[in-house]
Amino acid sequence: MAFEGRHLVGVDIGTSAVKVIQLRDSGAKMHLLKYGVEPLPPQSIVDGHVMNSAAVVDALTKLFKDLRISQRDVALSISGNSVIIKKLNLPLMKRDELEEQIQWEAEQHIPYEISEVEIDYDILAENNEAGQMDILLVAAKKEEIQDLVDVVRQSKLKPFVVDIDAFALQNAYEFNYGYNEGETVALLNVGASVTTINILFGAISQFTRDITNGGAVITEEIQKQLQVSYNEAEAYKAGGQLFSQEVVPQEVMGIISNVVDSLTGEIQRSLDFYMATSSTGEIERVFITGGTSKIPYLRSAIERRSRVPVELLDPFRKVTFNDKQFDPEVLKRQAPQATISLGLALRKQREKI
Ligand SMILES: Nc1ncnc2c1ncn2[C@@H]1O[C@H](COP(=O)(O)OP(=O)(O)OP(=O)(O)O)[C@@H](O)[C@H]1O
Ligand SMILES: [Mg+2]
Repeated sequence: MAFEGRHLVGVDIGTSAVKVIQLRDSGAKMHLLKYGVEPLPPQSIVDGHVMNSAAVVDALTKLFKDLRISQRDVALSISGNSVIIKKLNLPLMKRDELEEQIQWEAEQHIPYEISEVEIDYDILAENNEAGQMDILLVAAKKEEIQDLVDVVRQSKLKPFVVDIDAFALQNAYEFNYGYNEGETVALLNVGASVTTINILFGAISQFTRDITNGGAVITEEIQKQLQVSYNEAEAYKAGGQLFSQEVVPQEVMGIISNVVDSLTGEIQRSLDFYMATSSTGEIERVFITGGTSKIPYLRSAIERRSRVPVELLDPFRKVTFNDKQFDPEVLKRQAPQATISLGLALRKQREKI
């Protein structure tokens, strides 16, 4: 008998921090066993490459030790320029033919040498009448995958699954909110260096894009313009949302709004592109998450430009926890950074007995 084994530990190695979540099944909900965040020094990971592996190994080792997680099998994910996701419409064909066709399609659609990428695909839909099938083609650069796998192994962990941020985001959303047939929603994860977009029609991903821009640009601008350290700039940015000019220099709000406006413009161009090229109808809701979504001005700027209601995605909507172990207020504040690791922690290890 084959059954799905226990959940893997979700490990999200972001450019600004490592996030770790461990879940346990509890009926229709999940129970939060462990959750932790450990910041990384700036430049530890640059453009998908691990530049300071010692820092990442230290953060991972510390998290597993402090949280007392003995389980070693983990799910990881990658994002950014090293990931290419394409939706293809192909004539209906048998699986073995498809295997061959995928190689050919990958050569046409992937802007990297085929030998440099891992390729995977998923059949989204098969339409017998039209003789067509929709395929999701996923390619990720081997080098970037290897970088993450290496730091995870050095941390004495076992990488069981390497997922893609866009899909972990989708999993976290679907687990917590389900989906409505015929409804189009856009999911946004705005991190430090990458903004991941995944537009769903019902349960099916229609469009994904990773924009290499995020909250780190705000920190860098504050550092540069106010001549302060990284930590000071981070504190100003987080305090900037309070609009309290006594503790935060006046310039900070201006810097935040400038960077956010340009990021919002980039996001809107992707949403517009999707609307112009798809036939699934208007985007009805936008869900936003990721550390940078804590900036209220970002939410309102996207809402103003897209004219679509923007909601903060709650990754713990269907997650129970012990409030002696986790302060509900703290967990709520940290929730935006937890979404990808939660999506990863939903993954299970398949076991056979
Ligand atoms: N209260 C806050 N106000 C503004 N920005 C915040 C706040 N809290 C966290 N951030 C920002 O969120 C970002 C971190 O978010 P997140 O953990 O989602 O990113 P990451 O996974 O490390 O990065 P990436 O996925 O882009 O590699 C940082 O840029 C951080 O400064
Ligand atoms: Mg991230």
